[in-house]
Amino acid sequence: MTARIAIVTTVDLAVPDADEELLLPHLPEAELVAWDNPEVDWASYEVAILRSTWNYTERLPEFLEWASRISGVTRLVNPLETVVWNTDKRYLDDLAARGLPVVPTTFVEPGETADAALLTGSVVVKPSVGAGSAGAALFHDDEAAAAAHLASLHADGRVAMIQPYLSQVDEVGETALIYLGGKFSHAARKAAILSRGMSLVHGAVRGREDRAV
Ligand SMILES: Nc1ncnc2c1ncn2[C@@H]1O[C@H](COP(=O)(O)OP(=O)(O)OP(=O)(O)O)[C@@H](O)[C@H]1O
Ligand SMILES: [Mg+2]
Repeated sequence: MTARIAIVTTVDLAVPDADEELLLPHLPEAELVAWDNPEVDWASYEVAILRSTWNYTERLPEFLEWASRISGVTRLVNPLETVVWNTDKRYLDDLAARGLPVVPTTFVEPGETADAALLTGSVVVKPSVGAGSAGAALFHDDEAAAAAHLASLHADGRVAMIQPYLSQVDEVGETALIYLGGKFSHAARKAAILSRGMSLVHGAVRGREDRAV
């Protein structure tokens, strides 16, 4: 049988995705397809579901150009407009404008400087386009190091963001709420990462356990 569902990954996955190994046996009409494989005929799939395209953070314009192109020939899940909005954490400003509580965030473009007061105390400096905590760093009362990290993100051409460190993440973790078809389905708790010097590699947890709640 020809696969009808493309579960979209990348040719560049550092480690196999554990979720996909669990999912694929239950979806015989699906197969793993890489967004960055130029040989793929996207029109041959009824639907393309974004799953483990982790290198989008390094190649965002190219990734969005690909998403736009395939949206014309197959049904992209999530829709293009959502993908464009959601791949850059500047969406936090939109959420705040709609009255949702968000972590106080200052975005700093390359070429701009940050107010020193924002870099004092316990602060997180991270890229506005990022995943798996790559490029995110925590500083305690070290304005010079925080400024240096900001400068290194800018040198990479990235928009940086500064947030206060939320200590609740150490106490209760971070809870992801999963909605399916607009209805709450379940939640997953993530342990603190930055205060424990941990990182994620292409979505795989290194040195910590995620726990379903
Ligand atoms: N302001 C903050 N306070 C406490 N912890 C933070 C803060 N910002 C980031 N972290 C920690 O760093 C991790 C990664 O940060 P964040 O979730 O913002 O980016 P990401 O996981 O790389 O991107 P995305 O969530 O969009 O995939 C978080 O899961 C959390 O553990
Ligand atoms: Mg995150």
